[in-house]
Amino acid sequence: MRVGMLTGGGDCPGLNAVMRAIVRKAERDFGDEVVGFLDGWRGVLEGRAVEATVERFRGSLPRGGTLLGTSRTNPLKIDGGPDRCRDQLRALGIDALIAIGGEDTLGVAATLSEMGVSVVGVPKTIDNDLGGTELTFGFDTAVAIATEAIDRLHTTAESHDRVMVVEVMGRHAGHIATWAGIAGGATMILIPEEPFDIDRVCEALRRRHAKGRYASIVVVAEGAVPKEGTMQVLSGERDEFGHVRLGGIGNSVAEEIEARTGFETRVTILGHVQRGGTPTAFDRVLATRFGVAAIDAVHDGAFGQMVALRCGEIVRVPISEAVRELKLVDPDLYHGVAEVFFAG
Ligand code: F6P
Repeated sequence: MRVGMLTGGGDCPGLNAVMRAIVRKAERDFGDEVVGFLDGWRGVLEGRAVEATVERFRGSLPRGGTLLGTSRTNPLKIDGGPDRCRDQLRALGIDALIAIGGEDTLGVAATLSEMGVSVVGVPKTIDNDLGGTELTFGFDTAVAIATEAIDRLHTTAESHDRVMVVEVMGRHAGHIATWAGIAGGATMILIPEEPFDIDRVCEALRRRHAKGRYASIVVVAEGAVPKEGTMQVLSGERDEFGHVRLGGIGNSVAEEIEARTGFETRVTILGHVQRGGTPTAFDRVLATRFGVAAIDAVHDGAFGQMVALRCGEIVRVPISEAVRELKLVDPDLYHGVAEVFFAG
């Protein structure tokens, strides 16, 4: 078989590990030829691809980013885009395509699948907000980076008796904020799922600091929003998938805390540091398992399916089901566990 693969959307530690596994299993067990499309769906639209061999992916297991490049190009937003994708795949003799991406990339894959393209999905996002799977690779790495940053901020916060606001990624869901916040012993965690009341945040910090010399760490997901009418926030430009460019709520929260409480406050925006560099061992293993399972799915003819993790097992779920609804933070984890430690 001639199998195509692509990486779309934001890059993510573990992408190379997935592709390395695909090419190894494809060559070794099936005698396939694998072709890698460059820069996500843009490469498919433009018919830009390279031969993806075991040799090309040698040494890539611990490497962050994606050797194929990625983009946020959305064929569904381009006149005749999906047809052009199907025609390019045909012209290049691709029998099946493996799309590695999050809800946007896999949303395109779901549409192509309905049009008869043989496509298999692999779930990717550091945000861990994709439906159908308990975990996506990249998330564990992002949580580890954010936790290490929080650990480091504790000592400087304590030395200066300051409030430290740490902004982490998480556009629609606060998985990174919740996990890193719990792991790092945050004083408060603000996530998109739970609009916050800045008055109550400040009240809690005042109560904590009234007990004496207490530094605080407030973890804010970039997509966190204040309750309507409680605080002003800025909004940025949008990409092709209609997403506003985020990164800034941490500054607004820090300014409000300092203005309302008088506590000296500093802000750290972790940004793309969370997405760069080498994947954790956990993510390397998960990515490798997904890659092997994806090429198996191709050979089983399980098209329109995405490989997923459920109860420790790799399973297959319809791509359309995975992209239907975002996976949000479990309220039991947020209210039942994280909140126990808020401003204590
Ligand atoms: O891939 C998901 C993500 O990391 C989000 O958490 C973040 O909002 C977004 O990507 C940033 O995108 P970009 O790198 O295009 O600015």
